[in-house]
Amino acid sequence: MRLCTVVGARPQFIKYAALHHAIHKYSQIEHVLIHTGQHYDHNMSGSFFKELGLPDPDINLSIGGHAPVKQISLMLEHIAKHLAEIKPDFVIVFGDTNSSLAAAIAASKLQIKIIHIEAGARSFNKDMPEEFNRIIIDRLADQLFVSSSSAMDNLKKEGLIRNAYLSGDVMKDMVFAAKQRNRITPKQTQQYIYATIHRPANTNTTQRLTDIMNGLNQLPHKVIFSLHPRTKKQLDQRDIQTEKYQNIEWIEPVGYFENLSFIQFAEAVITDSGGMQKEAYWLQTKCVTIRQDTEWPETLHDGWNTLVNDQLESINHLLSTNPTNHQAKLYGDGNAATAIMDNLL
Ligand code: UD1
Ligand code: UDP
Repeated sequence: MRLCTVVGARPQFIKYAALHHAIHKYSQIEHVLIHTGQHYDHNMSGSFFKELGLPDPDINLSIGGHAPVKQISLMLEHIAKHLAEIKPDFVIVFGDTNSSLAAAIAASKLQIKIIHIEAGARSFNKDMPEEFNRIIIDRLADQLFVSSSSAMDNLKKEGLIRNAYLSGDVMKDMVFAAKQRNRITPKQTQQYIYATIHRPANTNTTQRLTDIMNGLNQLPHKVIFSLHPRTKKQLDQRDIQTEKYQNIEWIEPVGYFENLSFIQFAEAVITDSGGMQKEAYWLQTKCVTIRQDTEWPETLHDGWNTLVNDQLESINHLLSTNPTNHQAKLYGDGNAATAIMDNLL
């Protein structure tokens, strides 16, 4: 069997790492990895391949730094060219990025079967580019691997249940492996809150961006902020002086294990990242999500994760709550990649 996986953005290198180790248990599988180049800074891309023991991608399209329409159309053209040569039996895509959308469209035009991992997740917010991407990819996919029963319900409502399989979440495999290998270690002696923000809705206007920074600046603990390149660009272009937020310690994006370590030992995580909502849950750290919706509603139970959109001043109060009821089985048992490969074969 010949598989081709297409990745492009930071969370997809991490998701692919889980699958990579499962794929390579099977000698009958030939595998080609295409990296679109959507993320390209070393600390957003190359560092993950090294740290997670992944070989370099077989093909790197180096399509980064474009506006969405150009980005998707360039990816579509170049992915299609390579797929026509590789002739895989299946193309594998993860989640909701423009790289995944382009790969799914290219594969469908060439009548190559598509596997979607993390299928069925919905925010029901059509202003998010990712929501549109997820819906289209699920429609085009031939085999859907699903992280949670709520995502399965979404697929059911959309009439897409026939080829869907509840595998659990491959990101949980990675967190379990990191714990087992003792890769999660304290980074700080003082109490802190760990933050990341990168969604266009939170970064693309000066007002919203500064409202969020002001909110973080008033919290009772130091905020360590991992600065995504989109957010850095927006702060620079808007001439927002980061030094004036004295409660915030800005850091460059960190490696995967360092990031999990920051999450694990934080008083709370404040984020708009999809992946970090789940990681905070698995590591039993309280999370505040700066959005009006989430694709991961299970994390909201018992206050482990709380959505805050406009009432940013309410974060302070949320920090004093203590969720207790933690569900160990949420999003599977940490063996999703093996379940996916077994099901596929
Ligand atoms: C993308 C995904 C988003 C995902 C996020 C993960 C889409 C529509 N969005 O958003 O779902 O949550 O990745 O992090 O696919 N940039 C750099 N260096 C890099 C990467 C990006 O400078 O290594 C810059 C780009 O040039 C661009 C901006 O950051 O100006 C945004 O990058 P882009 O990949 O378009 O979207 P993300 O916000 O990263
Ligand atoms: N991450 C990381 N370093 C950082 C911030 C995040 O390794 O400085 C990891 C995090 O552990 C998670 C993934 O990146 O696995 C989440 O990616 P991101 O927030 O960029 O995208 P999203 O999940 O929102 O699509």
